[in-house]
Amino acid sequence: MQTFTIPTPDDWHLHLRDEAMLATTVPASAAVFNRAVIMPNLVPPVTTVEAAMAYRQRILQQLPETYRFQPMMALYLTAETTPELVAEAAANEHIIGFKLYPSGATTNSAAGVKSVDALAPVLEAMQQHEVPLLVHGEVTDADVDIFDREKVFIDRHLRPITEKFPTLRLVLEHITTADAVAFVEESSEYVAATMTPQHLLMNRNDLLVGGVRPHNYCLPILKRRSHQMELQRAALSGNPKFFLGTDSAPHTQDKKETACGCAGCYSAPAAIELYAEFFDAHGALDKLADFASGFGADFYRMPRNTNELTLVKETWQVPATVDTANGPMVPYWSGESLNWKVQS
Ligand code: DOR
Ligand code: ZN
Repeated sequence: MQTFTIPTPDDWHLHLRDEAMLATTVPASAAVFNRAVIMPNLVPPVTTVEAAMAYRQRILQQLPETYRFQPMMALYLTAETTPELVAEAAANEHIIGFKLYPSGATTNSAAGVKSVDALAPVLEAMQQHEVPLLVHGEVTDADVDIFDREKVFIDRHLRPITEKFPTLRLVLEHITTADAVAFVEESSEYVAATMTPQHLLMNRNDLLVGGVRPHNYCLPILKRRSHQMELQRAALSGNPKFFLGTDSAPHTQDKKETACGCAGCYSAPAAIELYAEFFDAHGALDKLADFASGFGADFYRMPRNTNELTLVKETWQVPATVDTANGPMVPYWSGESLNWKVQS
């Protein structure tokens, strides 16, 4: 039997939701990842250190005993975030950074930022305290085409931010365009990006050709193939600025298969296998370990994991649905085959 072993990976961008959903989402990610950055877009959003610590406890309560899993909490940046809160967050070992959601950009982002310019004092404090800024990089203006929103955000907001705050540690999350790849490659070592399985494996044809595929709908939306190819090139290049962040985002089936479906792909049940599929398809399985288990930890200045995860070369199908307390979910890649499987 062919196997492939890597240091245990970390997920640098993960949505677990809350309450009953945690019973499904926490074991799924903890079975594979040592650490994960937990996104704060709950309702209401996680905006304070106390709220993050309480949320962290609710996550840990769902952890099967044999799993070691460290949730690293991101706080939700709002117009009310103060430099004092940045200092408090910097002093808390369980808080990894602040997440900037432009208001209205995605799921549960209503409380997000309406004026990036007004954040200057907070970004100054983040730079000073070395607290990373995690960015959903899309403008929300009605007159900007949805396929251009990432590029416009980079030009309008990110380039000015990196010029004004050159040592602010910034992660552009779930990148989707050649423009984002170029921005990250051209920026200093303080700037990095996460990449999802769906943006590496798919393009907008997989969303729209032959019928609308709601389970491939996420934000930022899948882009054209030429953008996908640039993402693939960056992931395969071994550049340490690009690393794994699944953006696994659970929504129940009824919320996805409806007239106005939610954005998000629940990739957790097959996360590392999906990335293995991508790297293997490009003859670059040897690049998986750094991408999944090395570069993210290096960027966040955390030790690399010393335990290991073994993948077995075995064809299997991602389950059609996953049961949750809130009803069934259709995972990303549902019913489709994968060639690598985590050894149980
Ligand atoms: O597709 C997405 N789903 N993109 C996001 O930015 C948020 C996420 C969610 O929370 O469902
Ligand atoms: Zn996300």
